[in-house]
Amino acid sequence: MKLKYKIIALNVSTLVIMLIILGAVVLNITDRYNLQTVLNYLQSQGEYASTYIEQYISISTNNVFDTPKTMERSATFLSESLKKTAKCRVQIYTTGKMLGDSAVTSETSLPMSEVIGSALSRQSAYFITTENNRTFYYATPVVLEDKYTYAIGFEYDLTQADRMKNGLKQIIVLITILSTVIIVLISTIISNKMTRPVKELISATKSFAKGSFEARADIATQDEVGELSKTFNTMADSIQEMINKLNYEKEKQKYFFDNFTHEIRTPLTTIIGYSELLWKTNDEEVRDKSLFHITSEGKRMLKMIERLLELSKLKNFSFELHKTNVNIKSLVEDACDSMQYKAKRYNVKFNLKLEDAMYTVDPDLFKQVVINIIDNSLKYSKSPNIDIILKKSNKIALSIIDYGCGMDPLVLDNIFEPYYKIEKSRNSSIEGWGLGLSIVKEIVAKHEGTIEIHSYPSRGTRVEITL
Ligand SMILES: Nc1ncnc2c1ncn2[C@@H]1O[C@H](COP(=O)(O)OP(=O)(O)OP(=O)(O)O)[C@@H](O)[C@H]1O
Ligand SMILES: [Mg+2]
Repeated sequence: MKLKYKIIALNVSTLVIMLIILGAVVLNITDRYNLQTVLNYLQSQGEYASTYIEQYISISTNNVFDTPKTMERSATFLSESLKKTAKCRVQIYTTGKMLGDSAVTSETSLPMSEVIGSALSRQSAYFITTENNRTFYYATPVVLEDKYTYAIGFEYDLTQADRMKNGLKQIIVLITILSTVIIVLISTIISNKMTRPVKELISATKSFAKGSFEARADIATQDEVGELSKTFNTMADSIQEMINKLNYEKEKQKYFFDNFTHEIRTPLTTIIGYSELLWKTNDEEVRDKSLFHITSEGKRMLKMIERLLELSKLKNFSFELHKTNVNIKSLVEDACDSMQYKAKRYNVKFNLKLEDAMYTVDPDLFKQVVINIIDNSLKYSKSPNIDIILKKSNKIALSIIDYGCGMDPLVLDNIFEPYYKIEKSRNSSIEGWGLGLSIVKEIVAKHEGTIEIHSYPSRGTRVEITL
């Protein structure tokens, strides 16, 4: 059952139950009041009847012993006269028989005989029949000369009270029907308003489940449903963010794979080309040239795969560093020594401004970091000199600065991605696979340090490592 119908059903059933209880109470009180009024009326009629009969007998008889005879003679007349004031059937009884009846057909009904029996024992009594057209039977004793006991019975028709009871019943039923209609209308409006945010939340959830991850719930209310919508939206945001991250990772993987294939394809094509030539030629010179190219391309491929393996090892969580406390200054000097030969080739001068700075690092890996960065400046920047500055305050800061071609700041976002190379260098003769900076970043991260690259076209590049 829908929530909307549940709300309506609850409201309607509560109202109907309340109206039925209220109606029954009102009906009962009104009827009791009516019956009490009839009883009071018949009691006063009883009192009047007994005075009337007493006076009539005292006027009509001279001798006390004539009373029974006079009563027997006048009972019908008396009951008829009393009927005129009481406005209901009046019967007069003595022990064992009826003396007079205001009605034409003189007969004693069962409830009448019961109340008369009580009145003849000098006790007033009443009885109300319960069938549809109810009748109020009332009997009261009349004692004459302290000796003769008679009973006067009133048979009062309760049609009016019944009519009132039935009228009231109809009104209550009508009110119940009318209020039910009204409450159904009002409940529908209210429940529609209440369930609207829930419906919206459901439709947002459904769209989300179908894969439309932009779907969000409308936060229309400040209640529990609003709270739920908010939580749903937060959840949807995090799922979308996760999906975006996954997509980004997928893109990165694709980029890596594409580039790897590209890098490996070039030397392989060269090797295959020269190998085929070897089969066909007998020319000594061509053979030597082919063998030279096959060897150099093979070596180049091996170098690339070694670099890739190194990166893969560094990315492994279980990769262990062999850390020792060393002076970073001497590490940097060592790295510069190693690069001295290449620097001469590129006609570049190193300017070192190094402070002593002891730190616990893996010396081989850290030296490799410095070599990679210097190698880049040598290969790409065409800067006449490279400044290398090491400063020690509360942290250690190593800056490697060249004043060469620099890079567009926009490319810096991806510079640490494996195989990322700036287009101009990709097709140039400069050897490189775009793996150096990825390896550098992994090594620095393994030492809980940070690396930042600031660069500007034609002004140069500044690489900063902080430990
Ligand atoms: N100092 C620099 N000046 C200008 N361009 C640079 C500099 N350093 C790096 N780059 C650019 O960033 C790219 C990525 O550098 P990275 O060291 O990762 O790869 P690579 O040097 O091309 O290859 P590898 O280091 O694997 O031999 C380079 O291809 C180059 O275009
Ligand atoms: Mg490099």
